[in-house]
Amino acid sequence: KFEGLAPTPPMGWNSWNTFQTAINEKMIMEIADALVSSGMKDAGYRYLVLDDGWMAMERDSLGNLIPDPVKFPHGLKVVVDYVHAKGLKFGLYNCAGTLTCAKYPGTRGYEYQDARNYAAWNIDYLKFDWCNTNGINAKEAYTTMSKALRKAGHPMIFSLCEWGVNKPWQWGEPVGQLWRTTEDIYQVFDSVHNQGTWDALSVMRIADLQDTLRKYAGPDHWNDPDMLEVGNGMTYEEDKTHFSLWAMMAAPLMAGNDIRKMSPQTKELLTNKSIIAIDQDPLGIQGFKYTDKDSLQVWFKPLQQGDWAICFVNRGSHDRPVMFNWKQTPVVDPVFHYTLEKNIDYTLYNVWTGKQEGTTKKNLNAILKSHDVLMFRLKK
Ligand code: GLA
Repeated sequence: KFEGLAPTPPMGWNSWNTFQTAINEKMIMEIADALVSSGMKDAGYRYLVLDDGWMAMERDSLGNLIPDPVKFPHGLKVVVDYVHAKGLKFGLYNCAGTLTCAKYPGTRGYEYQDARNYAAWNIDYLKFDWCNTNGINAKEAYTTMSKALRKAGHPMIFSLCEWGVNKPWQWGEPVGQLWRTTEDIYQVFDSVHNQGTWDALSVMRIADLQDTLRKYAGPDHWNDPDMLEVGNGMTYEEDKTHFSLWAMMAAPLMAGNDIRKMSPQTKELLTNKSIIAIDQDPLGIQGFKYTDKDSLQVWFKPLQQGDWAICFVNRGSHDRPVMFNWKQTPVVDPVFHYTLEKNIDYTLYNVWTGKQEGTTKKNLNAILKSHDVLMFRLKK
């Protein structure tokens, strides 16, 4: 892979969660405009990624992929140039199998040719899916594509959308910058939502599955618990919790809502600089679930210069009190061995209210709403 492209988890926008295959030139240009005008670009969202459905149903007579001529009547380059001119990066989607998940032409057998075309179009990011791959070895298939991208020469983030089926965290680090750890997210806070042909997963269910994987993640090689569903129909508290947990997990932050018409609340949430700083912390440590009792979870994440993030999550359906004794409860990262220091009085910066709320000298006592979070940056 190209080294050094993702020292912190990639951030951007992806078309799938809201639009599925219903994308087109005009809309993508409007999204690029909105990334800039909403302040999202300034907040760090850099990659605009077209997911499944950007291609024509057939390759051309020479085997080249071509953009859908109705959706992209002026070709792809015009759109890519437009996006680049805004100071953004451009990403595309394809699949390791013979067909993509939505049955467009897959890359199997065309790895080097497709990579050359992406390079010629100045593509900066490739999300590579895992549908229609019967009989294919995952590590080999992703390695082949990774080599093809390198050979093509244009630096590209390679996003392994392998759903965790073949444990990509065990072999993905030299291959790409991020790998999906589960099947697809669904805009539901907390239930396994049955989609018929695959298990779409709720926000909390996905979060449940990440803890054992944190030792595999770090700069340039991230666990990917899937794209954001913020602004796609959950309650404000649920969106907050989703975004907070993704930041605690150092997850890639790919917005998946229609940012042209998001509410001021959604915009504020997605551009919260303190939360993003926790996600993007240069140490690159995926946070851990410290306790999980009676529907109350406590997550910790070591940050640079001795700071920490802490996030209380009320998974239950009732408001509840929250208590924490900073001086008596030992907090040690079980994998990376950072310790919350008892003899230091950290200041508590509430990342959602933007207010400083005391220090760790005093026990914490608060009331936490159902499905809401209380999240602090502990400053040394
Ligand atoms: C799979 C992926 C999704 C999306 C669709 C596109 O389900 O996991 O993120 O890319 O395919 O068809």
